[in-house]
Amino acid sequence: MKQPHLLIGGNLTDQILLNPKMGNRHGLIAGATGTGKTVTLQILAEGFSDLGVPVFMADIKGDLSGLAKAASPHPKIDERIEKIKITDYQSKAAPIVFWDVFGKQGHPLRTTVSDIGPLLLSNLLELNDTQTGVLYACFKIADDNGLLLLDFKDLRSMLTWMSDHTKELRSEYGNITSASIGAIQRDLLILQQQGVENFLGEPALNLEDLMRTDLSGRGIINIMDVTKLVQKSPRLYATILLWLLSELFENLPEVGDADKPKFVMFFDEAHLLFDDAPEALTDKIEQIVRLIRSKGVGVYFISQSPMDIPESVLGQLGLRIQHALRAFTPKDQKAIKMVAQTFRPNPKIDISTCIPELGIGEALVSTLDENGSPTPVERTLIRPPQSQIGPIDVETRLSQIKRSPVAGKYDDAIDRESAHELLKKRAEKAEKEEDARQEKEDAERAKKKEKKKSSRKSQSPFDALIKSAARTIGTQLGRKLLRGILGSLLK
Ligand SMILES: Nc1ncnc2c1ncn2[C@@H]1O[C@H](COP(=O)(O)OP(=O)(O)OP(=O)(O)O)[C@@H](O)[C@H]1O
Ligand SMILES: [Mg+2]
Repeated sequence: MKQPHLLIGGNLTDQILLNPKMGNRHGLIAGATGTGKTVTLQILAEGFSDLGVPVFMADIKGDLSGLAKAASPHPKIDERIEKIKITDYQSKAAPIVFWDVFGKQGHPLRTTVSDIGPLLLSNLLELNDTQTGVLYACFKIADDNGLLLLDFKDLRSMLTWMSDHTKELRSEYGNITSASIGAIQRDLLILQQQGVENFLGEPALNLEDLMRTDLSGRGIINIMDVTKLVQKSPRLYATILLWLLSELFENLPEVGDADKPKFVMFFDEAHLLFDDAPEALTDKIEQIVRLIRSKGVGVYFISQSPMDIPESVLGQLGLRIQHALRAFTPKDQKAIKMVAQTFRPNPKIDISTCIPELGIGEALVSTLDENGSPTPVERTLIRPPQSQIGPIDVETRLSQIKRSPVAGKYDDAIDRESAHELLKKRAEKAEKEEDARQEKEDAERAKKKEKKKSSRKSQSPFDALIKSAARTIGTQLGRKLLRGILGSLLK
């Protein structure tokens, strides 16, 4: 049986289709504001969902939530249907699961500090090289000592502990200064105010929950509401998307060439992923985008201008949907020229003149053919969505959240015993033991004093050193370290 294709739109002569086999070859939707990017994203998501492919997307303005409701009839929609010669148009809602880091517009989406890892975290915190080194040490020390870094508290407690023990840590973990730790702690505080605390913790997202299909075999569309997040912390937004990308990459098996992708992600406001990203991170993104294809994951970037995206990434995007661009300034014209060069030419179309003339919901489109070569660019009227254009109301959203397949699974945070609790416990236990020992010693000393008033023995300076060190470190972990140091001293 021939696999159905995904209908993108059409023109007077042809329908423009996406071959699902090429769905993992990534894509780009670009265009000035109000030209139809979001609706294009909506019809692609619907198309993949209908083919049984689960989708993840971030909703920046809230208007993608319309996917959860069937479209109402409209003469303009009818006109489009007729022009594109769609014979089987059906108004219908897509199966949606809503997510929201803040847990208000959807199920909370969380991961742990250790899953985020030091590279992304350091980018999120905008750390310099020295501070980044300290953060890597923090992860290593936690690892070496079996301390779980799950949430924000764990990270802060770990750093505080490090700050109290910089000297002891030096031999094994290099130069860790209180100044660097202090700077990280201050950055963490800012992040805390931006709401990162909600994102770090448990229950952490299980990727399988994003990759579901509904009973009729349609792919679930996961919509992460980021209306607030993008304003509060665009960097955290970027971090979440990058984390998701790398999780998928690390956890999914190789699938090679398949009939259709396993999963598709849409990155709206894609420039935020690359703005001020250090080279190491951009390289990593480029690498993951290149390799994740073979795991059956398609990544689609949405941005106003293709120039927002690094060339190394741009070169890997198979599907190109270019909505209108303005041609007012020399910079605009430069962008148009560049875009024109990236399309496979079509003798019927003068790309540079065409781009500023495109109507709303109209675009230049090039797809990949059976062999993976780009098709000549076509001027295309994008098909109307089956679902509603524009946001849904609060009630519809709430009822969706209530009857979602993951209802109840993530809604309440849990706080498992991890680094923060353990460090605290250890400190308390050590303190108690120390107090008890001190008491016993005092009592014994008093006894001895009674017995041999004349031959008084004082505490050796060495004992005093151990005791005072044990008191300041005050944790089992510290004592282990102390034993290590003293062990070699005593040899
Ligand atoms: N394929 C389409 N079918 C029907 N109407 C469309 C289509 N594309 C765009 N429109 C109309 O154009 C309006 C603007 O489109 P859209 O919201 O997708 O623009 P945008 O490029 O995402 O804008 P912004 O940059 O401001 O987010 C829509 O609300 C809708 O009315
Ligand atoms: Mg939009």
